[in-house]
This record gives sequence, C-alpha cells and structure tokens, in this order.
Amino acid sequence: MIQKCLFPAAGYGTRFLPATKSMPKEMMPVVNKPLIEYGVDEAMQAGLNEICIVTGRGKRALEDHFDINYELEHQIAGTGKEAYLNGIRDIMNECTFSYTRQTEMKGLGHAILTGRTLVGEQPFAVVLADDLCLNPEGDGVLAQMVALYKQFRCSIVAVEEVPQDQVHKYGVIAGEMIRDDIYRVNTMVEKPSPDEAPSNLAIIGRYILTPDIFDILEDTEPGKNGELQITDALMKQAQNGCVMAYRFKGQRFDCGSVEGFIEATNYCYNTIYAQ
Ligand code: UTP
Repeated sequence: MIQKCLFPAAGYGTRFLPATKSMPKEMMPVVNKPLIEYGVDEAMQAGLNEICIVTGRGKRALEDHFDINYELEHQIAGTGKEAYLNGIRDIMNECTFSYTRQTEMKGLGHAILTGRTLVGEQPFAVVLADDLCLNPEGDGVLAQMVALYKQFRCSIVAVEEVPQDQVHKYGVIAGEMIRDDIYRVNTMVEKPSPDEAPSNLAIIGRYILTPDIFDILEDTEPGKNGELQITDALMKQAQNGCVMAYRFKGQRFDCGSVEGFIEATNYCYNTIYAQ
C-alpha cells in the first residue's frame, strides 16, 4: 500500500547555529541516536521501507549514516561495541535509501515537490525529522496514520493541541469532528496570529499525502514568507473534502528548537536509555 516515506531535510537549521554550520540538523543526536534515525525507525515500524531523502548542500553526513563504514566495522568486529550498531544495521537490512537535492531552500512545499522524482505517483508519508514523535505505549505516529489511510484513502495530517500563544509557529486547522480524534479539514492557516487562528490544532511534522499533491504544488504560488507552503496545497485538497486531521497518540518534541531538543533528550534518557 504505502511504501515510501519522504524526509525533507534540506533546511538550514538556523535555530541551532553554530552547531548546524557544517552539520545537518537532522544528524543532531538525541542521547546517542541522530534525529533522522528516530524518524526512519518510525517509518520502518509503519511498514514504510523505501526511504526518500531530500538533502541539500552540506548534508552528505545523512547519506554516510545510512551506509556501511568498513573501517569502523572491521575495527569493532567481535567486540561488545558491535551491539551499538544493531539498530542501524536492522534499518539498513530492511530499508532502501534514495536521495535528491533541493538546490534552493524555497520552503517545505518546494522540498516535497523536489521529492517527486523519488516518490512517483503513489501515496506517501512525510516525516520532518526535527519533530521527534515517540509512543512507548503502542504504535508509532506513522503506523497510526497508515492504519487511518487504509480507512479514508485521502491525505492525513497529524495535529496536536498547542497553547494559543504558540499557534503562530504552525499550520493550524479547523474542521468537522468525525471521531473524537479525527477531523475532516475545511480550513487551514499557515502561522496565524492568535486572532486569525481557526483553532489551536497545530499540524506537526507527520503527513500522508496522495500524489495529486504534486500537481497542486506545481500550481501553488509562494505564500507566507515567500516560501512554497505545503499548507496552501493541502488547503486546495481540503476544498474537495480530501484531508483528514488526526490527533495522534504519543508524545512529540519540537527538536528544531533548543528547548524541545533538551526536553526530548531528557525524556529519551529517562525512559529509554537509563532503564
Ligand atoms: P523548518 O523551518 O523547521 O527547518 O522546516 P529549518 O529551516 O531547517 O530550521 P530553522 O527555522 O532555520 O531553524 C521544516 C522542515 O522542512 C525542511 C527542513 O529541513 C525541516 O525538516 N525544509 C524546509 C526543507 O527541506 N527545505 C526548505 O526549503 C525548507
């Protein structure tokens, strides 16, 4: 059904300068695992084994991370340290990786459109690796969304309630509630002021998109901040009743901000590593 997961990872990560001057934001480790690997784990758990990554200049470390490092592996072969590589080895056995480059950073919508060459004409998932989502109690957020896609067969955005003074950082939706955790979207506003916001349900970095989104993105003009916004393209799909919003189960950390990153680090250390 859905096999591909697209990771737009070309952004500059300016909120983490100087760390991100020569290192991709997506390689920042939460404890000892880079953000992108958490995202790929989540995709793999949802049965999405074809990983497509949109990179940019200075992002080669992403490709190297999902490849064999012969020298290192030879060096630690047969020692206790090999176990540290179990997770990434599982990923490399289960998944394929393909890459394309976004040459100009014209926004998330543009990054997704750049990924068309990797995705083709099929429904696909999108993960923004700087939103770290964890659900120790059950299925990951993408797995929850893939299950919903089987039911609705339309684009799905993951949403979370945020405080009113935070809505300006997100795309915000409103819609008709069709289950206590599912809405049929009829309005979306990108980074609204608190008075413009149609609700406090903010879109986070997990999407399932139907492939017609690519043609819509081609015809969408740059929006807020002069960037091609995925929200504007989704709004056009929503006008045909084709976008659902899902209030996911689990926890999400905004690792694109220093505060969220520290929170995620503490959470992962306490719930996963120190056990
Ligand atoms: P963000 O705005 O959160 O990431 O974009 P950023 O631009 O890297 O971070 P700051 O604001 O400068 O600190 C959300 C996601 O979209 C990707 C980013 O890599 C991130 O995963 N993105 C954004 C692209 O791939 N290309 C773009 O042109 C813009």
